[in-house]
Order: sequence, then structure tokens, then C-alpha cells
Amino acid sequence: MSEFLSAELQDDDYQSEVKLRPSNFSEYVGQRKIVQNIELMVEASKLRKGSMDHVLLSGPPGLGKTSLAMIIAKELGVGLHVISGPALEKKGDLAALLTNLAPRDVLFIDEIHRLHISIEEILYSAMEDFRLDIIMGQGVSARTMQIDLVPFTLIGATTRAGLLSNPLRDRFQAQFSYDFYQDDELAAIIHANAKKLDLDIEEEALLEMAKRSRGTPRVANRILRRVRDYVLVKRLSKATAVEVDKSLSLLEIDELGLGTLDRKILQVMNEYYGGGPVGIDALCATLGESRDTIEEVHEPFLLKEGLIIRTPRGRQLSEKGKKHIILRT
Ligand SMILES: Nc1ncnc2c1ncn2[C@@H]1O[C@H](COP(=O)(O)OP(=O)(O)OP(=O)(O)O)[C@@H](O)[C@H]1O
Ligand SMILES: [Mg+2]
Repeated sequence: MSEFLSAELQDDDYQSEVKLRPSNFSEYVGQRKIVQNIELMVEASKLRKGSMDHVLLSGPPGLGKTSLAMIIAKELGVGLHVISGPALEKKGDLAALLTNLAPRDVLFIDEIHRLHISIEEILYSAMEDFRLDIIMGQGVSARTMQIDLVPFTLIGATTRAGLLSNPLRDRFQAQFSYDFYQDDELAAIIHANAKKLDLDIEEEALLEMAKRSRGTPRVANRILRRVRDYVLVKRLSKATAVEVDKSLSLLEIDELGLGTLDRKILQVMNEYYGGGPVGIDALCATLGESRDTIEEVHEPFLLKEGLIIRTPRGRQLSEKGKKHIILRT
């Protein structure tokens, strides 16, 4: 059940994400600072008739990085090439991608912090000088071959900006990090998407759904689909706050938007570690969960809600976190 709340992409998200993805800047809710900057960069690139500056987008999963990259390419009127960092295994793969770009195209590299270092190095000159430096041979007979590339825009997305190497990070002229969305922004997203799904939702129900979406549009969309199914099966004419509460209780999502694993984290910290501080490795071992899941998906939200705090000696349960978990056990 805990997967329901995970902000990570799941199988049945694919189809709905295509349908519910914002298709232009005006449909893209919130993140005003990022959007204003990007709109300016897009406009400038059109006036200059040159490629847009490279952009790094960082933040927890499901906050809209991929969606924004798609809008950028569309607004620039150029081609979009999408690739995921870990999927690039050979230098030749990246070289082929780069040499096949049309002028000003956007190359979107998802999970860019997981690029292999030898592949990452190819990007340095590609980003800086639009040039491929390829080393042929070894030792004294090694030569560098240079191939000119067309100007292009690299958009990198990462859930872990801290894991990016400095040389790579420095080559992005613009870097933006995402914040979790406010409840009213999530309500606006749910409202717009409910229309696309032909679902009637009461104002109060809308806010309830927003509050439980853990600041994440992907989760908001998932909750929306769930509520739509509930309304359909119960043959209701619209979603009311009571129905929303019922369908979300079935999923064990509490009023802060926490799911079972979120609560388990708080509970383990409280019961096994006396509230902490506890190191991340020990915590993950006790939970039996991977460190990536905890650090990328759960911890950012628990930190943002002030349920846990980070100290030099590890993670610690806050007073609010302690209260929240004691009330529920
Ligand atoms: N600003 C927004 N306005 C409206 N809908 C949004 C917004 N951001 C995200 N969404 C919705 O959330 C879904 C997930 O967003 P997206 O795939 O862009 O996230 P992501 O940051 O790329 O996640 P990941 O790190 O897992 O790749 C989108 O399909 C879209 O429906
Ligand atoms: Mg994405």
C-alpha cells in the first residue's frame, strides 16, 4: 500500500501522465520563479536565433521536471531527445546522439547524476564548445579527434543535485531546484485535471485531496484517479469531502499526507532509536528499505513538514514528528 504514495513513477502513471501533463507554460501550475526565468530564456533564445542556455533541474520525483523540459522544447519549436543517465552505457551512444541533433534541439538527460564518469566527460566539451573530443588509441600514440556539433540545449534532471560532479554542474548556465507545491497549487492542478477526466469535485473535497498529496503533482494525480474510481463504483454524482476521506483512508493516507512507510520511518526512529539522532544507513537497515528510496522520496517530505530534522550526527525526530506518531500507535 505504501507504494501508492511514492512520488516515483509507477506503471499505471504512464498513460495518465500523457493525458494530464501540462502542455504549455500557462497550464504549468506553481514554481513561478523557475517558470519566469525559463520563459525569459526561451524568449531570448528565439530572438537571438541561437540555442537556449543549458539548464539543470533538480528536486524530488514527481514535481514536474520532465514536464517542464517537454514544454521548453515545444515553446522553442525544436526537437526533444530524451535519454536516461543510467541507460547511456557506451561513449559511442552519447556521441551518436549528439551528432544527430538538429540545430537548437533539446537533449533531455534524466537522472543525470547517474551518468558514468567516462560518458560525463564527453559532455564537458560538448556543452561548453559544442565540440566532441574523442581520444583514439592509447599511450604515446593516442590522438584527439575533434568533431564540431551544432548548438544545442542540454536539460539535465536530477533527484540528487548533491551527487553531481562539480565540472558537470558548472557547465549548466542556469540551475533551478524545485520546492514542494503549496496546497492551493495542488488544488488548482487537481481541479484542472478533474475537468479532463470529467469528474465533479466539491470545493472542500478538492482541498482535502490537495492536502494529502504530499506537495507532489504526481501524487495528486494518482489520488485524483483513485477518487474518480471510487465515485464511479459507488455511483455518486460528485466527489465530496466525506467520500474523499473514505477512499484515502482505505489507502492509509493520513491527514498530513503520510503513507505507511512514512509513518514507519517515524515509528522506527521513535521506538528503536529513542527519537535519534540515527545514521541513515542504520535507519534503512532497520526498515529494510533501500537508501535511495528513503533519501529521495521519503526524507525530503518529512523534512519539509518538520517531522524530522537533520543534525550532524544523523536524523532526529522533531517534537511534531513524535506527536504525530504517538497519536497513531
Ligand atoms: N507544474 C505542474 N502543473 C501541472 N501538473 C504538473 C506540474 N508538475 C507536474 N505535473 C503533473 O505531475 C506529473 C509528474 O510530473 P513529471 O513527470 O514532470 O515529474 P518529474 O519531476 O519529471 O519526476 P521524476 O523525477 O520521477 O522524473 C505530470 O505528468 C503532470 O501531470
Ligand atoms: Mg521525470
